[in-house]
Amino acid sequence: MQNNNCQEKHIFRPLDGRKILFGVSGGIAAYKAADFCRNLVKLGAQVRVVLTKNGARFVSPLTFSALTGHKALTSMFHDDLASPMTHIELAKWAELFVILPASADIIGKTACGIADDLLTTLFLAFNGKKLLFPAMNPAMFENPIVQDNISRLRAKAITVAEPAKGTVVCGDTGRGRLPDFEEVLFLIRKSLANNDLKGLNILVTSGPTREPIDPIRFISNRSSGKMGLALATVASMRGARVHLVTGPTCLNIPSHISYTKIETAKEMAKQVLSEQKGMDVIIMAAAVADYAPKTFSKSKIKKESSGMTLELEQTSDILLELGKHKRAGQLLVGFCAETENLIENAFKKLQKKNLDLIVANNVTEPGAGFDWDTNKVFIIDSDENVEELPLLHKEDVADRILDKIRDVLSLEV
Ligand code: CTP
Repeated sequence: MQNNNCQEKHIFRPLDGRKILFGVSGGIAAYKAADFCRNLVKLGAQVRVVLTKNGARFVSPLTFSALTGHKALTSMFHDDLASPMTHIELAKWAELFVILPASADIIGKTACGIADDLLTTLFLAFNGKKLLFPAMNPAMFENPIVQDNISRLRAKAITVAEPAKGTVVCGDTGRGRLPDFEEVLFLIRKSLANNDLKGLNILVTSGPTREPIDPIRFISNRSSGKMGLALATVASMRGARVHLVTGPTCLNIPSHISYTKIETAKEMAKQVLSEQKGMDVIIMAAAVADYAPKTFSKSKIKKESSGMTLELEQTSDILLELGKHKRAGQLLVGFCAETENLIENAFKKLQKKNLDLIVANNVTEPGAGFDWDTNKVFIIDSDENVEELPLLHKEDVADRILDKIRDVLSLEV
C-alpha cells in the first residue's frame, strides 16, 4: 500500500559539467540566486556568475565566487583579469545564459539591445539559448511597457519564464515572484536539451492503480511512478507536448507537465482511451492492477473470527484495447516487469497487444524496477531486436527509450 500523504521531490539526474552563465540583476530575489547557483553546482553544472552593479548591492559577488568556485564578475574593466576580452570568452564558453532575477531594468535593456555593462554586453555577445526569470513588484511586472519588452524578447526566441503568483517582499500580491528551484531547474534543463521531439503528442501513464475494498482499504502494487514521470519530464524537455496520466504516487509533478490523476484501473482506462485518438505516441509505464475487488463495501469490513475471502475480477487490459484501435502512424510502447523469462515474456506481450516497442526489466535485479532512481532495461522492437541498456538513472533510460521512439518514427535529429 502507498502512503497518500507523502510528498517526494522529483529526482533529476545530474547536470554533468553543463556550462551555465548566470546573470544576477538588481532585485531582492538575488538572495535566492545564491542558493540556486549552489544547487546547480551541487548537480554538477559549471556556473560562472556575472552581476549588475545593483545585483551586487543585494548579494556580494564574494558569495557567488565562494559558491561556484569561480570569481563572480561585475565589470568589463577588472584590472586583474587575464584578458581584456572576458565578455567574448565567457560568451563562447557558455552553453546557456540564465538571468535570475531579471529586473524590469534588465528586461528593458536586453529587449532594446543596450550594452552598458558586462552582463548586458555578454547578452549581446552570446548567441546560444537565453533564459530569463523575471522577479519584481507585481505592478511593475504587469506594466504594459515591461510586458512589451518581454514580448520583444520572446519574439527573438529568448525564453522568459512566467513568474510565480503570490505575495512579494514589499507585501503586494500578484505575479512577480521567482518560481521555486524545481521549476527553475526544469526550464534550465529544457533549454539545455535538444528539441528533437517537437510537434509530437505523447501520452505517458505512470504509477500504480488503487482498487478499493472498503472506505479504508485498497489493493495496489509497489510502483513508485518514477519511470513514468522521468519519461514525461524528458519528453517534455525534448519539445514534445506531453500529457501524464498518473495513479497515486508520492512524486511532486513539475508544474510544466500537464497531468490527470486517477485512482483505479477503470479510471485510467477511461482517461487513456478517451485521449488515444489525438496521440502520436502512447507509453504505458503504469503498473495497472490486473484484478480489482468484485464489490466495494460502503462500510468498513469488520474482522471475523476466521479468515476472509475477497472475490476479485479482472480489470480491462488498457494496452490490449489501445492495440486494437491503434491508428496508422501511432506508436504504442508497453512496459513489462518480470521476475523470470524476461525477454520471452516481453516479446509475447508485444505481439499480443500489437505494440511497437516494449521495455522489459527484471524487478529482482538490484537498482532496477520499483522505487529506485535507476533502472536496467531491455528495449525490444517488433522485429525482435533486443537492446540491452546498462544500469542508468531513470531519466537516462527515458532518453534512450525516446531515442528509440524517434528512430522508429524516423524523425530527424
Ligand atoms: N497493462 C495495461 N492494463 C492492464 C495491465 C497491464 O495496460 N490491466 C499494461 C502495463 O501498463 C504494461 C503492459 O500492459 O505496459 C504489461 O503489463 P504487465 O503487468 O507486465 O503484464 P500483463 O499484461 O498484466 O500480464 P502479466 O501480469 O500476466 O505478466
